[in-house]
Amino acid sequence: MAFLLAFINRQFITEPPVPTASFKGKTVIVTGSNVGLGLEASRQMVRLGAAQVILACRNIEKGNIAANDIRETTSCSPETLQVWKLDMSSYVSVQAFAEKAKTELPRLDSLVLNAGLATREFRMTEDNEESITTNVVSLSLLALLLHPKLRETAETFSTQTHITATASELYEVATFKEREAPDGKLFAALNDKSSANMADRYNVSKLLILFVIKQLASLSPLSSSNVIINCVAPGFCHSQLHREHATLVVRMATKMVARPTEVGARTLVYGASAGPETHGQYLPDCKITVTKGLTQGSAGVELQNRTWEELKQKLEAIQRGVTALS
Ligand SMILES: NC(=O)c1ccc[n+]([C@@H]2O[C@H](COP(=O)([O-])OP(=O)(O)OC[C@H]3O[C@@H](n4cnc5c(N)ncnc54)[C@H](OP(=O)(O)O)[C@@H]3O)[C@@H](O)[C@H]2O)c1
Repeated sequence: MAFLLAFINRQFITEPPVPTASFKGKTVIVTGSNVGLGLEASRQMVRLGAAQVILACRNIEKGNIAANDIRETTSCSPETLQVWKLDMSSYVSVQAFAEKAKTELPRLDSLVLNAGLATREFRMTEDNEESITTNVVSLSLLALLLHPKLRETAETFSTQTHITATASELYEVATFKEREAPDGKLFAALNDKSSANMADRYNVSKLLILFVIKQLASLSPLSSSNVIINCVAPGFCHSQLHREHATLVVRMATKMVARPTEVGARTLVYGASAGPETHGQYLPDCKITVTKGLTQGSAGVELQNRTWEELKQKLEAIQRGVTALS
């Protein structure tokens, strides 16, 4: 009931504020920015003065169309936007992208981890079902690989930099039956096609993102890193997210209820420029909000710890030493 009331309030009554923070001189990476919320957030950051916005996309052609669209609607100089290849379903692609960013960018002020998928199809990519690889493992890998660059920028330019992930209010309704698996077997349970509840999978992936953000923030206190790590939730918005299951009901609900993409994208821009008080926090509609559902209480802490311990092993297997944050 509380979830429903909050949903009605979000979709019909309140709106996230138009962002006004300056991005002057800043370099930003936005993953999944060829369409939807990532595209609109990139446009807003260009309007707010960003010096360089890297559109990190798996399809360069679509990325170039998006970049030209932003150029035309903002009249920014063409070189403000660059399109770089990033496929979150491949760890090698994530590593190559991070290496390029580390070597080619003079600075990195905000990393917006927005790319994500919602699917009802069980498909394996790398060592996990695709939503887990894309929405959770690759997101964590990219955050960790680029954290040193963000930290270095903060130090060199005496500023604070940002890692912002696009989470979702739907984490609250995740049932996450796989959590009943024995210790060390959470991800193995998520990989069991025969028992997979794909209607719950997207919600689970967004719950795991909350755990990752909280964990990374606690491992990297602001006092030592000056990298603000937070996550946002944009509300139910028009985008291509439901492209794989665009049933009549989904299409009608979208038409009647969804927010304009530009409105939801404001939350991403807020997260990528928010103050130190947002470190480790969940920010639906640009407000620090206590998380609910399976994150609550000692059971929530235990589930977060179990998730992190298993994820850490996966990440270390991909690249040794990557989880050593300071
Ligand atoms: N729309 C909503 O109501 C809503 C609500 C809460 C949270 N969110 C979250 O917002 C984020 C953006 O979604 P959206 O609503 O804007 O949906 P969207 O229009 O489908 O955009 C998703 C973006 O992610 C990219 N992407 C997907 N898989 C990728 C991969 N393996 N590698 C690189 N990029 C990949 C897509 O690229 P392609 O175009 O090449 O597939 C696209 O650019 C997602 O994390 C989503 O979960 C959305």
